[in-house]
Amino acid sequence: MYFRLRAIAQVSKAFVHNIPLPHPLIFKTSFKVYIMGQNQALLNDWHIVADARELQPLTVLPKRLLSEDIVLWHNGSTIFAWQDFCPHRGARLSLGRIEKGNLACAYHGLQFNTEGKCVLLPATPDQPPPNRGFIKTYHVQEKYGIIWVCMGTPKRDIPHFPQWEDSASRKILSGPYRIQASPFRVLENFIDPAHFPFAHHGTFATSNHPEIIFDELKASSSGICLDFKFWFKDFLVENNEDVVVTLLPCRYEIFHPLVVYFQNGIGTNDYLSIYCAITPIDENESQLWLLFGVMFGEDVTDASFLEFQAAISKQDTRIIESQRPQHFSLDSQKEIHLPSDRLSLAYRKWLFEQGILNSKVQYRT
Ligand code: FES
Ligand code: FE
Repeated sequence: MYFRLRAIAQVSKAFVHNIPLPHPLIFKTSFKVYIMGQNQALLNDWHIVADARELQPLTVLPKRLLSEDIVLWHNGSTIFAWQDFCPHRGARLSLGRIEKGNLACAYHGLQFNTEGKCVLLPATPDQPPPNRGFIKTYHVQEKYGIIWVCMGTPKRDIPHFPQWEDSASRKILSGPYRIQASPFRVLENFIDPAHFPFAHHGTFATSNHPEIIFDELKASSSGICLDFKFWFKDFLVENNEDVVVTLLPCRYEIFHPLVVYFQNGIGTNDYLSIYCAITPIDENESQLWLLFGVMFGEDVTDASFLEFQAAISKQDTRIIESQRPQHFSLDSQKEIHLPSDRLSLAYRKWLFEQGILNSKVQYRT
């Protein structure tokens, strides 16, 4: 009843204000809860689900991706990613264990082979398993020390991290950081240099020097690239508030809806690159993974680097989780847009053009 009244009110308002109504189908779906797992473009892409060190041989892990519970398991030689759902009575398979190379459900012990097919009914072992005894399986692979899953049909490879092959650069994995916010908002924060001097004042930037110098933005169907400079405060130097600031040349490259490549110190030997990937757990829940390629600071231990990065991520999380509305919208009327938002606007346009987000879809509020 409430929805019908809301629909009538919306139609009347549209007539009064001469607003074009959306296509009836879209109008109808506006009353549905948007489920991220129905986003076909995201389903057909690769997303990080775990640090490879978490999934030891003969272990089982519960994970969540695109509004779906998944189970990761390792039979000793191969890793698998399946829907975390037993077709018998719906128990979570991630509660189970590995038996003779099969995954056994914790409830009645049904065993599933590496293809997801039920091969044993322990209570009646002489009986053949039912034909419908199959688990939904997903594509899975390990790359850059992390485990990636594609729940649909992969349309492209896992995005490339050039520094991974560079033996001279130190690799440090930071995260994952759990953030109660839309994955698109988390990515948008990462590609927004205008927040450095304020959200990260005193760490690697300072609000006394908030100016950003932008180069020309390059966008194509394969992605977006932007070079810029910001006033960098050297975080390796103690007590240097406003003393050591230098204009640092940087570059962002976006080539996947939720993966960004960032590099600072462009043109120098002392660069730092960040491969930033966001796991879309749900429409308002994300995990941030940062893979660093570092060419400086040999005297800085990995532990102190990670501690510093955790503090920066905390500064970001506090603000991202405060953003309202919580969902990410392409509706340009909902916010104001500034010249310094050029990369986020290009990113939103690219998401729309790639069919990843539709400006007409109503999200859960
Ligand atoms: Fe899995 Fe019964 S629910 S075996
Ligand atoms: Fe930040």
